[in-house]
Amino acid sequence: MTKVLVTGAGGPAGVAVIRSLLKRSGTEVFAADMDGWASGLYLVAGERRRIVPPGRSEGFVDAVAAICAADDIDVLVSTVDAELPPLTARREELSAVLAAPSAETIECALDKWRLARRCEGRLPVPRTRLLEADAVAEDWDFPVIVKPRRGAGSRGVRVVDSAESLARLGEDRDLIVQEYLPGEEYSVDVLADADGRIVAAVPRTRTRVDSGVSIAGRTVRDDTLEETAAAAAVAIGLTGVANVQLRRAADGTPSLLEINPRFPGALPLTIAAGVDMPSLVLDLALGIPLPDRIPFRELANVRFLEDVFVEPAEVLSSPFAAHQDEAVTA
Ligand SMILES: Nc1ncnc2c1ncn2[C@@H]1O[C@H](COP(=O)(O)OP(=O)(O)O)[C@@H](O)[C@H]1O
Ligand SMILES: [Mg+2]
Repeated sequence: MTKVLVTGAGGPAGVAVIRSLLKRSGTEVFAADMDGWASGLYLVAGERRRIVPPGRSEGFVDAVAAICAADDIDVLVSTVDAELPPLTARREELSAVLAAPSAETIECALDKWRLARRCEGRLPVPRTRLLEADAVAEDWDFPVIVKPRRGAGSRGVRVVDSAESLARLGEDRDLIVQEYLPGEEYSVDVLADADGRIVAAVPRTRTRVDSGVSIAGRTVRDDTLEETAAAAAVAIGLTGVANVQLRRAADGTPSLLEINPRFPGALPLTIAAGVDMPSLVLDLALGIPLPDRIPFRELANVRFLEDVFVEPAEVLSSPFAAHQDEAVTA
């Protein structure tokens, strides 16, 4: 029996990973989150639910390491961005295999400026500069995009429509200026094996998005999208899963927006299209060789919320979600 601990059980990616692994024979799934109200906790049996501190907090890695040791966990899968740097930095302290790319790969993916530098010359990348005086003074086609080097969920993304507005932002090395890509946007779920060989690249549209999560879309078979995303994954030395976001330039060329080095919220579509990435990542963590190239089919999806009912006494309490509870009672 393989024991797997999945963190981020309250998010769409966590729920999708838990659901996929629950279908896999010989696997016992443990679910963890910082909040006792995280829905995915209640997809597993009561004795396999765990509360962990927030990924950014001091005690996070120690707490997860303690759970892995106490529960004899074989493989740890984190679906939370903030957990990846601390976990990958201390992966050798874990008794479980951490199913995540290297710390270097994570670091490069989470810094959009570093990522652009790394990928330039290897695949189409929009012109990208740090927000500094000489970059601001360059000749840009407006509008341009200004966004945080380390952002997520579209927070802080601005469309700046003139040189004057750009100059008014001042200098800030935590922000980048980027060529505006006017075309259609795609998310490509990419899986690489232990040697960095690309095993699958599944492009999909984000036709409807709610709170940063794709809620309707379709997979698209397109060699250029697949090869561009694969080249980006190879450039950062990916092993395991990442979500490569591309957007078409004015001439139609798919160009790199960013890479999220983890499972995406829209994972169920990729799984249904033929590539069960959570199960394949588990194979990878267990040292089971992956197939050469896994095909997928074109498929569309829509989603709705689903209810899980539990006895009130069964809902786990968490010291880490106190502020949320206050917000509810206020
Ligand atoms: N260079 C760009 N051209 C056009 N739109 C962009 C550009 N950069 C970002 N955006 C828009 O902002 C969204 C969020 O940007 P992204 O780079 O994916 O950062 P994050 O998702 O980490 O906040 C994108 O999905 C896209 O719609
Ligand atoms: Mg994005």
